[in-house]
Amino acid sequence: MAEPRPSTSPQRILAIETSCDETAAAVVADGRRVLSNVVSSQIDLHAVYGGVVPEVASRAHLERMEAVVGQAMDTAGVGPGDLDAVAATHGPGLIGALLIGVSTAKALALAWDVPYVGVNHMEGHLFATFLERPDLELPLVVLLVSGGHTLLVEVTEPGRYRLLGSTIDDAAGEAFDKVARYLGLGYPGGPIIDRLARTGDPTAVRFPRAMLDDGLDFSFSGVKTAVVNFVRRHPDVSDADVAAGFQEAVVDVLVIKTMRAAERVGARTVCLGGGVAANSLLRERFAAAAEAKGLDHLVPDRAYCTDNAAMIAAAAHHRLAVDGPTGLDGGADPSLRLPTTGTPTSTA
Ligand code: KG4
Ligand code: ZN
Repeated sequence: MAEPRPSTSPQRILAIETSCDETAAAVVADGRRVLSNVVSSQIDLHAVYGGVVPEVASRAHLERMEAVVGQAMDTAGVGPGDLDAVAATHGPGLIGALLIGVSTAKALALAWDVPYVGVNHMEGHLFATFLERPDLELPLVVLLVSGGHTLLVEVTEPGRYRLLGSTIDDAAGEAFDKVARYLGLGYPGGPIIDRLARTGDPTAVRFPRAMLDDGLDFSFSGVKTAVVNFVRRHPDVSDADVAAGFQEAVVDVLVIKTMRAAERVGARTVCLGGGVAANSLLRERFAAAAEAKGLDHLVPDRAYCTDNAAMIAAAAHHRLAVDGPTGLDGGADPSLRLPTTGTPTSTA
């Protein structure tokens, strides 16, 4: 292995994220200073199919990887000799897509003689909060809402998680995407519904808030079906009113359950993470509810909510310090779980 750099110099990690349809690379110093954060979105490639096509995603990651990594290094002003590790998301996600990032990171780590670190994508989303506020008081409660996951997690100490709740069926982002697809609005549904809902009346249609009075787990498949049934019966009601009513129902449940979780575990801080955390109404309501309860709260910048590699570098910084490097024989796991304690009904 190459001579270690002097311990006074910042630890710089190059991270790669390819779990779904964003090809991303970033260089982060000391787990918190973002020197570059490059995201090449494939939305245009998948939109025509109404969703992510795994084979198309893998091919696009491969084609874009070199340029994206090059741009991340150039923007950060670093060369291989300035890096202390190369990290990649190794799950959960699309297996073909994950393997492009993992193989690239391992090859670079081997060529540059630095450690490789495999990172859990959901731990990455969680670390987006520490990127902005490394000093957050623990224990804290984080709501992680993405296209594939809806998790309520208590961070008891750095890197230790207790699962408080999760969805028993669809993830929150999945519900946004499915409702948008049903309404013929396009892909990805979350940002489209977010925009459209601003022009609608959120009180025009009241959709069900599933499991609202029932613990800390979530269910979003019922509200999606309710939207479908309502639109069939009332084709005259505008998409904007339907979108606003649907969004209101989802956000209501997410915010109420997060505040309930904080109360239950006695956390003084609540945070948001994952792509759905980019939602305007959720950000607004989350902050307002936390303030009303006198809780410290953090809603990361939108760029760190949707998939990016800066959050992966931040999580890698922590994992490298605690667990050391990942072996170069480490693979990718499409259904990798966030290592948690606790036994909610499901982690779907
Ligand atoms: O974290 P993410 O970028 O990728 C996954 O890890 O899945 O999350 C993607 C999800 C998609 O379902 C997308 O529709 C949703 O996040 N999303 C939003 C918004 N922006 C992205 N949902 C609601 N409002 C938004 N503004
Ligand atoms: Zn994600």
